[in-house]
Amino acid sequence: MKRAIFQRFILIISLALILSGSIFSAAISKIILDRTEENMLYTVRITDHGLNYEGNLKAQVDALKLVKGNEMTRFTVIDLGGKVIADSEVVDSYTMENHSDREEIKEALAIGIGYATRKSETLNLSMLYVAGLSENSKYILRMAVPFSGVEQYAGFLIPAILISIGITLIVSIFIANRFASSVTKPLNEIAEELNKLSQEKPEFHFKKYDFDEMNIIADTTMKMSDSLKESMARIEFERMVRQEFFSNASHELKTPLTSVRGYLELLENNMVADENMKKDFLVRIKKETINMTSLINDILMISRLETKEAEVTLSDVRLSPLLKDVCASLEPLAKEYQVSIDTNCRPLMMHANTQQLRELFNNLITNAIKYNKPNGKVLVTVTSEQDEIIIIVEDTGVGIPEDAKQRIFERFYRVDKGRSKKVGGTGLGLSIVKHIVNYYSGTIEVQSKVMEGTTFTIRLPKRPVHLIVNHEKTE
Ligand SMILES: Nc1ncnc2c1ncn2[C@@H]1O[C@H](COP(=O)(O)OP(=O)(O)OP(=O)(O)O)[C@@H](O)[C@H]1O
Ligand SMILES: [Mg+2]
Repeated sequence: MKRAIFQRFILIISLALILSGSIFSAAISKIILDRTEENMLYTVRITDHGLNYEGNLKAQVDALKLVKGNEMTRFTVIDLGGKVIADSEVVDSYTMENHSDREEIKEALAIGIGYATRKSETLNLSMLYVAGLSENSKYILRMAVPFSGVEQYAGFLIPAILISIGITLIVSIFIANRFASSVTKPLNEIAEELNKLSQEKPEFHFKKYDFDEMNIIADTTMKMSDSLKESMARIEFERMVRQEFFSNASHELKTPLTSVRGYLELLENNMVADENMKKDFLVRIKKETINMTSLINDILMISRLETKEAEVTLSDVRLSPLLKDVCASLEPLAKEYQVSIDTNCRPLMMHANTQQLRELFNNLITNAIKYNKPNGKVLVTVTSEQDEIIIIVEDTGVGIPEDAKQRIFERFYRVDKGRSKKVGGTGLGLSIVKHIVNYYSGTIEVQSKVMEGTTFTIRLPKRPVHLIVNHEKTE
């Protein structure tokens, strides 16, 4: 590239030099012609005043030629009819042809002064003629000098032009080289930095350049690299979350499957003789199967909420009957844990999916029961504020330690593994709640004091506009 810039630069400079040289030569040659004509006219006027037109004109014009430096100059006296009266070049002027058709003579007859450049047949030389109408007689006085235009000055003009072209070219080569370098060097540096793209974690360092265009390339590359890094980090994080999720899910399924298999093998090999024990094994197998089914349902629910591709049917859900229904279904669990449930629900409606709202209530109230103390209380309040539904689930339970508060919404996260194991569960409940809240663009807040109790506050829009719009679109 540097070579190409350099070559083009030199080509343009050379063309400019040739063009300017030609214009310069043409201008010089015009100036020289004008100057020479002016000087010759002056000489013609002086000579006109010096000549004695009554005397021997031939002798006088011959004498003019003898003046030092005038050897090549020709003087001619012509009458108004074009007849040559005296000529410093020709001995027998009478034999010369009539000059009335000569350009300079015609012009002098017309306007007093005439000029012409042509080859003289008499002298066989390229001559410049200046003719002037005499002010003292009825003649035309003509002066002629050898004139070959700018060629006459070529001796000093050509070296001068060549020297100036040479100097200009040397300076141009130097400037072209520097200019080409100043363009190609940053590009090479940028290209070198971009080669780092093949590295696993490229770190780009671009300089500040004189040309804005280079800085734009550098800045854009930096921005691209930053957003690439962000995307890579996000992909990596999501990959880790997924991996953790799969390993947790398979672990959660492996434990019940192992015990189911154990029971089945004992039964298959007739190792259990007692009928009551057999029945107990079957009950345990059934319980584990129910647990596994609920685990798989939870996983499917989360994945559907995450991809948002679920065919969710929205309708106006009456919250009070729904809450009563959930509480009724949880009554046996509450009894088991010796916990009482109270509700305070205003007659409110929300445009939502019934199944999702049921899941939300069910998970929060189940937790409030499971992580409670004997004779503990659960209070569920449903109220509204402007366009929002507010659901508050309070309990007088064991509470959540401060450092665990942020993590309880993670999939499979359980606060105290030992204690939670006794209680049972997989750690997906609150993750599902969080996904449902996000689905409706709501918020969830948790306040808790260890051994005092926990309060979950959820705010959901009464009519989630974004979902209604999407829903209508798909219909
Ligand atoms: N009301 C609460 N009081 C005290 N701790 C709670 C409460 N709700 C949740 N937690 C803690 O947060 C953890 C995560 O709750 P989450 O509902 O996600 O899982 P889980 O109840 O253990 O299992 P699952 O709900 O899937 O059956 C629980 O293991 C528990 O330690
Ligand atoms: Mg739970």
